[in-house]
Amino acid sequence: MYDFKPAAALPAEELYRELLAAAGALTAGEPDGVANMANVAALLWEFLPDLNWAGFYRVAPAKTGEGEELVLGPFVGRPACIRIPFGSGVCGAAAAGGATQLVADVHAFPGHIACDAASASELVVPVLRDGAVIAVIDLDSPTPARFTAEDARGIEALAELLADRI
Ligand code: SME
Repeated sequence: MYDFKPAAALPAEELYRELLAAAGALTAGEPDGVANMANVAALLWEFLPDLNWAGFYRVAPAKTGEGEELVLGPFVGRPACIRIPFGSGVCGAAAAGGATQLVADVHAFPGHIACDAASASELVVPVLRDGAVIAVIDLDSPTPARFTAEDARGIEALAELLADRI
């Protein structure tokens, strides 16, 4: 049995150190990206308080057959929109720009895609491999301004760890 759960409420730095260690241990030597994303989504859910969605969107061929778009990957939370064009919403902005999006109030974000009406703030971090975005990690919270720069740094470190594991 895996017991990857923080013992108590930890300061952000320690929390992310433990989260990264757990993600590293769970994905080490496992070549299946879907399995790794599924376990990491579960870890995010276990470790980070006050979330209503945690998971992945992957860069994949667009349904139209032309170009690429984001396609829903493993997650914990309510069923979500399946396909997101680059540049659309918070996830699409992170994918198009290859940069973290830390959004204190999703309702003020132009083009925000509301998958769950409960979401109030959001953190989206791109996963880059060889300079190209291959996926994004998406965290949603029902609390406005839930995510800090420390969360962004922690999830960016996680994205780096996962670059060749998903
Ligand atoms: N809110 C996101 C869409 C994905 S869901 O939050 C799971 C966005 O605006 O891209």
